[in-house]
Amino acid sequence: MSNIIEFKNVSKTYDSGTHALNNCSLNIEKGEFVFIVGASGAGKSTFLKLIMHEETPSRGTIIVNGTNVSTLKRKKVPYLRRNMGIVFQDFRLIDKMTVYDNVAFAMRAIGARPSAVKKRVPYILNLVGLSHKAQNRPSELSGGEQQRVSLARALVNNPSIIIADEPTGNIDPEMSYEIIGLLSEINAQGTTILVVTHEHQLVRRFNKRVIEIEKGKVISDTKEPVITDEEVEFDDSKFELDPLPDDLAEAIEQAERAVEETPEEELSQSAPETTEETEEAVSDESEDKEAQQCE
Ligand SMILES: Nc1ncnc2c1ncn2[C@@H]1O[C@H](COP(=O)(O)OP(=O)(O)OP(=O)(O)O)[C@@H](O)[C@H]1O
Ligand SMILES: [Mg+2]
Repeated sequence: MSNIIEFKNVSKTYDSGTHALNNCSLNIEKGEFVFIVGASGAGKSTFLKLIMHEETPSRGTIIVNGTNVSTLKRKKVPYLRRNMGIVFQDFRLIDKMTVYDNVAFAMRAIGARPSAVKKRVPYILNLVGLSHKAQNRPSELSGGEQQRVSLARALVNNPSIIIADEPTGNIDPEMSYEIIGLLSEINAQGTTILVVTHEHQLVRRFNKRVIEIEKGKVISDTKEPVITDEEVEFDDSKFELDPLPDDLAEAIEQAERAVEETPEEELSQSAPETTEETEEAVSDESEDKEAQQCE
């Protein structure tokens, strides 16, 4: 397996003088699911912002998808982000737009055909349980609903990497479980997933690689659960979001082909349902990890 993300001796010091990351080296392979944990202020968001080139490192090299992003020119950033779905800690939804348009906007931004947008956006909103809020503005939604709009926007372009900064920070335990379950299913289809979370019970439940950051350093990187609080039983019967099709890319292609073949006058009526009914076992498999170190 090849690395999709490489950090070589990366440090980040903000202009304020805060050392947010300190000489970090680690690799993330294509197709991995990684939880990033650590106390508030530890450097988790900084780590993600360096990957998406929202911040640049003070020292070291960062390679994403074979591109050295440490030295990436600003105008090349959209090409980097094309393959990334990002759930920001502060959502960053556009309140002048409806929920539907917030998600559609991400597709239009990369030049998707109107017919594809029309097919795909309702599908994704349905996936995150928000079809009924499609015509609302973000400010009319609860924090958890806004978080799910942000997730929908991250998923809509079928990216090869999903970077989610506390995607469950504002939602109850059952919905958190559903969201991580959904990401886990997407991961089982090959998408690399990085999730920052404070929810130790979720981390224990899903048994993925866990990178723990403390004061800007990676202090552990393991698949063994490192958290010792009481196990919480989740009720699987409450896992209500629609399962993904076996092959998401194929399903999208099929949906797009169907739209191509549909007469224009039919398309201009209400968007059709596109949910696929497929059972997909969530794979908890993960492979041995490259050693990481921070000094
Ligand atoms: N734009 C910035 N300018 C200056 N300092 C910053 C900036 N962003 C973050 N920091 C500082 O860098 C450190 C790491 O911040 P970061 O946002 O990465 O933490 P975090 O682990 O994501 O925390 P949280 O769990 O609270 O979101 C903190 O001390 C923070 O105050
Ligand atoms: Mg943060």
